[in-house]
Amino acid sequence: MRSEPPRDMQQEPLPAADCVQALEAWSRDPEEAGFPYAPVLELYLSCGKHFVPPEILVQLDKARSLSRQGQLRVFLDIALDKRDRRYDYSSYCALALLDLPDDGGDLDPGEIDTRRDRMLVDLLGDVIRFEVQALDGAGAPLPQMRPEPVEAEKRVQRALAALRPSVERMDGTAETGLDGARRFLAWRDAALTTQTRLRMALSLQPVHLVHDEYMFLRILQSFEVNFAWIAVLLRRAIRELPEENGAALPSLRQANAILREAARLFPLLGTMQIAAFHDFRRFTEGASAIQSAGYKRVEALCRRPDPERLDSAAYAAVPEVRVRAEDGQETLDDAFAAACRHGRLAAPERDALAQEMRIFSKQLLRWRQAHYQLAKRFLGTRGGTGYTEGVPYLDAVRSVPVFRELPDR
Ligand code: HEM
Repeated sequence: MRSEPPRDMQQEPLPAADCVQALEAWSRDPEEAGFPYAPVLELYLSCGKHFVPPEILVQLDKARSLSRQGQLRVFLDIALDKRDRRYDYSSYCALALLDLPDDGGDLDPGEIDTRRDRMLVDLLGDVIRFEVQALDGAGAPLPQMRPEPVEAEKRVQRALAALRPSVERMDGTAETGLDGARRFLAWRDAALTTQTRLRMALSLQPVHLVHDEYMFLRILQSFEVNFAWIAVLLRRAIRELPEENGAALPSLRQANAILREAARLFPLLGTMQIAAFHDFRRFTEGASAIQSAGYKRVEALCRRPDPERLDSAAYAAVPEVRVRAEDGQETLDDAFAAACRHGRLAAPERDALAQEMRIFSKQLLRWRQAHYQLAKRFLGTRGGTGYTEGVPYLDAVRSVPVFRELPDR
């Protein structure tokens, strides 16, 4: 593990004074378009969100009181989460800045792929850019505990592998090797809009200065993108099940394809250094993916969770999803059982749907198993940041059935 001295040890002054000045100037003419994002972001990346000087937080709070609803307001809420004591998984991952779908409305399957692919290329492409920049010694932020070059190169290869299906659908290039990564970056950069660049910059707010937190955050965000689109497709399949015979099949197949591709993120996460994880984790207490509404939405759309799970820490952490489940939101399990009961499905369609559900179930169980193994490797006997006992919690929940009602083959 290499370590570059953090900014303060390089005797460069933190840009706090510049930042205060820029914020004061802005507050005299608080036009949203002129907000001084650059010095604020530079400052956040130079010390980590946990260590932002109080005078900056005061200025940002003042800026928030002058801002209307919109991207700036969302950004400031996320930047001030620790000060507000609202810091949690969603604000840690800056999910509100990512333009995640909530319903997906009438998007056709191609549009869903396009939006998801674009987002994953933005997020994981940003990891590749960051790693290459650090490897080139070109002033990447978060200088502590840099991985050895050979490890960083492995990481770049795994990021490219995780992205490859999306890049191929977009007719881009994701070849192997560092040269392949540079060609990929040139292709991606050519398509980056100003708005996307800004969104990428605003949505990366690590708590400290450890190199690996950059990738960790982008991977969490990438999983969230996948969960969000899977939930869109499950909701759609639930709506389609009572309709035409087998109408729900394409949605289920697409959900399965997304879950399959999402598994490519685990080998990438496996390149995180255990010591680095423990270092930045000191400042993430209270933010745990047990609060991932996206994951629990997927789970609760498959079938209504058992009462003991609904009453456990799992759903206490996602109150909005819990209310919907308790209010009896329709699930794939119910919709499929009803369609079978009412004889709406011919045997071949019923079998094909059941088969897709079986595949989905198997893949989600595999996801939980991979996550459990990861937690065992990274945490050992330590507790989780979501205040569960950690690995024993994951061990207990990893075999919870995904569906209840599936006819035999
Ligand atoms: C080294 C990496 C990771 C470790 C050590 C880890 C550890 C844990 C632990 C201990 C829990 C239990 C809750 C708690 O007390 O915090 C948990 C829950 C969870 N984690 Fe992770 N996690 C890691 C990465 C991820 C990633 C990348 C995701 C993707 C979004 C994720 C998604 C989840 C979800 C959805 C839950 C809730 C599971 C449930 O309630 O059934 N985790 N994780």
